Amino acid sequence: MRRLLVIGNWKLNGNKNTITNLIIKLVEACANISKCSVAIAPPVVYLDLVMRYLINSNIWLCAQNVDVHVSGAFTGDVSAAMLQDLNTRYVLIGHSERRIHHKENDTYIAKKFFILKKIGLIPILCIGENKREFDSGHTESVCLNQIKSVIKLFGVEVFNNSVIAYEPIWAIGSGMSASPERVQIVHKLVRNYIANYNVSIANEIVIQYGGSITPENVTQFFNQKDIDGVLVGSASLNVDSFYKIVQAAENHDKSYHG
Ligand code: 13P
Repeated sequence: MRRLLVIGNWKLNGNKNTITNLIIKLVEACANISKCSVAIAPPVVYLDLVMRYLINSNIWLCAQNVDVHVSGAFTGDVSAAMLQDLNTRYVLIGHSERRIHHKENDTYIAKKFFILKKIGLIPILCIGENKREFDSGHTESVCLNQIKSVIKLFGVEVFNNSVIAYEPIWAIGSGMSASPERVQIVHKLVRNYIANYNVSIANEIVIQYGGSITPENVTQFFNQKDIDGVLVGSASLNVDSFYKIVQAAENHDKSYHG
């Protein structure tokens, strides 16, 4: 059965000191969390540091990226096997910041998806439209194409026990989240699309929303039937804000029947 999933994406922020302080406080704050799932995605060089604090905690480790190769002459890359070695559970792939700044395309991202499944990690496939696509009414086709490219190469079965994060690019870091009703429409469309191939995978898949989530607006998103969690950027860098978001998930009585 699906349950709410809250992930803090720390992006390219922090240093040894600030990250140690943050993770110690978060582990302490989340000690009694049991009804939702929580994960933190620190910068890759601090994965090992954070992992040590997460042992015996309620928080999972998430990586911000992975390479398509498992080993070999690929200078600077990090493999799924290495992430698994560090007890990573989730891995973000296709985040718009990687699509934009590193020119990652749908086929390349689909390969990352596949390698993560093969190794046994949980991919979080980020999808979402930019402002121009939003303004011209192309949100739906952009999002579905990003999902189609994975299905076309590897079949819908790879979405079993995977996560999709809908992050409209214009809502990221802008302080202007998408409207919860609008996000619900996109999530429902994504779930229906997967249901065309496999109903039980569609019912089980966790679909998160990301883009300017705050403690103040998060409950409106959880109130929507097909929003199963949030991917939080800036608000996850502050213990109080992030913990309030986690608490909102913990206290939310989400009924997943029907
Ligand atoms: P913000 O919460 O800062 O808008 O970032 C969202 C995001 O990109 C999470 O991956």
